[in-house]
Amino acid sequence: MQATLKETITYNAVQALPQLRLGTVRPKEAGYAWAERFDIFGRSFRFVEGLARKYAPGPLWITYAGQRSLLLLTVAHVRYVLERSPDPFAADPEIKKSRLSHFEPEAATIARGEDWERKSAINHELLQPMPVAEVVAEEVATLLDRPLLTWQPFGEAFERIARRLVLGDAAAADAEVSEWLAQLQEDADRRLPAYGDRFPLLMARIAEYVKKAEPGSLAGRAASIPGATGQLPHALFAIQDTTAINTYRALALIRAHANVSAQTRENVSDMMANETYAEAALQEAMRLFPTTPIYYRTAVRDTTIDGTEVPEGTLVIIPNGFHHRDRRGHPHANQFTPSQWLNDNGEPAGEDWAYNHFSHGPQYCTGRSLALDVAVAALRTLLGRRLTLRHPALNPDRPLPYFLNHFTITLAVH
Ligand code: HEM
Repeated sequence: MQATLKETITYNAVQALPQLRLGTVRPKEAGYAWAERFDIFGRSFRFVEGLARKYAPGPLWITYAGQRSLLLLTVAHVRYVLERSPDPFAADPEIKKSRLSHFEPEAATIARGEDWERKSAINHELLQPMPVAEVVAEEVATLLDRPLLTWQPFGEAFERIARRLVLGDAAAADAEVSEWLAQLQEDADRRLPAYGDRFPLLMARIAEYVKKAEPGSLAGRAASIPGATGQLPHALFAIQDTTAINTYRALALIRAHANVSAQTRENVSDMMANETYAEAALQEAMRLFPTTPIYYRTAVRDTTIDGTEVPEGTLVIIPNGFHHRDRRGHPHANQFTPSQWLNDNGEPAGEDWAYNHFSHGPQYCTGRSLALDVAVAALRTLLGRRLTLRHPALNPDRPLPYFLNHFTITLAVH
């Protein structure tokens, strides 16, 4: 199946071009305000939904960012591809690798073959469960000293959390590390030539912390795992950016659902003391607003997807933003319904391959448990105080918007 020229142009206008303005690695505040104002994520959702109605099961051939690509329109095809990553569907297409290699060239997510196997094994050893609650609670508690909670101090608290958990307490005040990382991410989005001299500076500083090997930090573990130092930039990035944004959005959603929703009959606030439910609330926030709304894969050799021939080098696109809100399978697709992550006994329900905010298959997020532990610890500390959501206005009885701009979320602290 092949998209028409008009569909190709519209798809690029609603999905490829906005990436440039939003920042693919480091979110740009002005771009996010623009996306919110013009409902870019809503337009993108509705357009892909229309393609799915017309072409599903697909997959659909479409030219994306100048490259011949396959758009996956069913969960079965998404599962097929994710189960086969990184071979024959590697997670390192140029569109992603060229950016990530600015600040994390050794990251497993852009590796393939034996290189990926080695890095994946390192990450599984490095990211074993570790105590995080004390550090997180200490840092987050400082946010409750002010009458208004906004993104900037929240993000800074998470930078400190990331430095302490990844590099050790000795790095708590080492803001330079976070600044270098942020700058490298901005360079990546601007497609500036790789590295400059900031990347060697960052790695030299990280190596100093690995040498100190502070117990209880990832650097402490990395000291005894050959090759692990190269994985630490990703850990810093994933805590200070990805985990921070997801936690802040979850906080806004939870406070917007302080009363029982007429739609879902669920009283979120009353349930947050339950750790399993708190985790479910986070998962649900990530389903609604995934930080990676599109995944890319590339075929490493000629292969097939459900009978469709896929030549080597084809870009495969997984539109998470669409699958997470696809109304066909989910009665409450646009509602915040944490209970859907739990079974009848209140335990975590089985995996749903429609929801890929942490991905699935061999290349699922190895830091998933760590991220959830950090986020739940932060939410529990923050929700120990009464917070009211000042902005944006989220009505629990209306369908939620397709985008939640973390830069402008504001809560009053009582
Ligand atoms: C809420 C926070 C997080 C989210 C939403 C998230 C999401 C993801 C996603 C979607 C992928 C797959 C990307 C792809 O295949 O294109 C991924 C991969 C990965 N994540 Fe996370 N992540 C989070 C936090 C973390 C943390 C805190 C760490 C480590 C400290 C981490 C470590 C990794 C690693 C190592 C991979 C690569 C796995 C592989 O390819 O072998 N993540 N993450």
